Amino acid sequence: MKTEDLNKIKKMEVDEITEEIKRMHDELMEDKKFFPESLLEKLDSEKALQEIFEKILKDFKHHIYKEEKILFPYLINLAKAARNEIPFEKPYFETVVNPINMMQSDHESINDATERLKILIDDELSQKKINSAIAEKINDIIEYIRKVIYLENVILFPKAALLEKKFLV
Ligand SMILES: [Fe+2]
Repeated sequence: MKTEDLNKIKKMEVDEITEEIKRMHDELMEDKKFFPESLLEKLDSEKALQEIFEKILKDFKHHIYKEEKILFPYLINLAKAARNEIPFEKPYFETVVNPINMMQSDHESINDATERLKILIDDELSQKKINSAIAEKINDIIEYIRKVIYLENVILFPKAALLEKKFLV
């Protein structure tokens, strides 16, 4: 990710970053830009690769669902409360640190799986079992997933935890 983009996001408010990440989630899953489903079909002859790629997509979808149902609505309200637009409400999960820890452990397993997938892709490429266009498309998806995870781990989550400290003593 470009440093200027990173700096821009760092300066944004917690709810703006959350919305930006939601947009990135949609972009990844809506099958308009990356076409993960059609890529999966093309991997029919490479079962091992197809399986691990399919599992990553499934796990990431499930992970996104949890974030958008549990964590993100709270983050948006937290930012609004910090600007005195709405009153602060203590979450049922006590503190944002709890869902953040859960999400970070998801991130770790997703990152591990993408690491294994990358190795497999390089291997199959060198054996000419898949063509470079398909490999490139899968790699683009992997990079995008990693970018989203990085933005959450390094910018959004620490910023949200810090913001919450204003309210929880
Ligand atoms: Fe995430």
